Amino acid sequence: MMDKDSYRRIVSDRENREDNYREGVKEYYSLATPGYLSGWGTSFHFPPFHPGQTLEEAITTQQHFIAREGNFAPGMKILDAGCGVGGPAIEIAKYSGSSITGVNLVTAQLDIARDTAQRQGLGDRCSFVEGDIMDLPFENDYFDAVFSLEAICHTPNKHDAYSEIARVLKPGGTFIGTDWFCADSLDSSDYARLIDPVCRTYMLPYITSIQELEGILKSVGFAVEESRNVEDLGSMEPVWNILEGFANSEMPPGLSDRDKFSFEMLSESFAVTATAARQNAFLVGYWKSTLPEG
Ligand SMILES: C[S@@+](CC[C@H](N)C(=O)[O-])C[C@H]1O[C@@H](n2cnc3c(N)ncnc32)[C@H](O)[C@@H]1O
Repeated sequence: MMDKDSYRRIVSDRENREDNYREGVKEYYSLATPGYLSGWGTSFHFPPFHPGQTLEEAITTQQHFIAREGNFAPGMKILDAGCGVGGPAIEIAKYSGSSITGVNLVTAQLDIARDTAQRQGLGDRCSFVEGDIMDLPFENDYFDAVFSLEAICHTPNKHDAYSEIARVLKPGGTFIGTDWFCADSLDSSDYARLIDPVCRTYMLPYITSIQELEGILKSVGFAVEESRNVEDLGSMEPVWNILEGFANSEMPPGLSDRDKFSFEMLSESFAVTATAARQNAFLVGYWKSTLPEG
């Protein structure tokens, strides 16, 4: 656990976030995980909503979509890069019959993931390993497929992160996922005004546009089949409404100093994300790519 001032120093600018990404991410999730668990459940990603869906239904629909689009099937060995507390890995393993290994920097999240998988009878097909997307603890060509939901945004060098994922994926394998992006056409002053606050408050060194994502994926050997704003798959309006609802809520009484800091941090981050999204500067993007054989 870090003191507030040390954490504020780490997140203060891009260079500090890049240089200290491991410590920063660990501290961010030490502060944020209880709030995410109570508001979002065991899956920490922003889903597009179909008409009439609850948050839980929208999350599950999104996970099943990833499993179907990735052609995940029984017997396949799949990596979840940046697995959080395991909600997506467990649901996708259940739905697809595949075996999933989640990797994560944060020990306390891995403990929750292992415990949840055991309780749901998925302990034999879901495993959770401490490790860094930037330096994955797996051999070359180890996985049949890789997915990642809103995690690579935390990495300090997207080229090196995707390249590391390409290394552990078998030729012919699919790499599919969602992440946080800025708009393709965003200029540097709008990036500074609208995206920097998102990066600072979620401990993201920086984020790219979807256009840049495509370029990076291709540069590390992937063939990009699809990349798009997830708004094409459903409405993100309910997500921004939930974030604004929290940001406008009163702090509960009786919190410890650390819980107050955590509440203020989440409130600010949710407010700046909703603002950036409503001004079309911020979006959640989806991609599907494959590693060509030979
Ligand atoms: C927004 S959460 C998403 C978690 C999960 N994919 C989900 O949808 O529930 C981002 C996750 O990425 C993990 N993460 C961030 N940077 C990482 C890195 N360099 N290596 C491994 N995991 C990382 C965080 O600890 C966190 O669990």
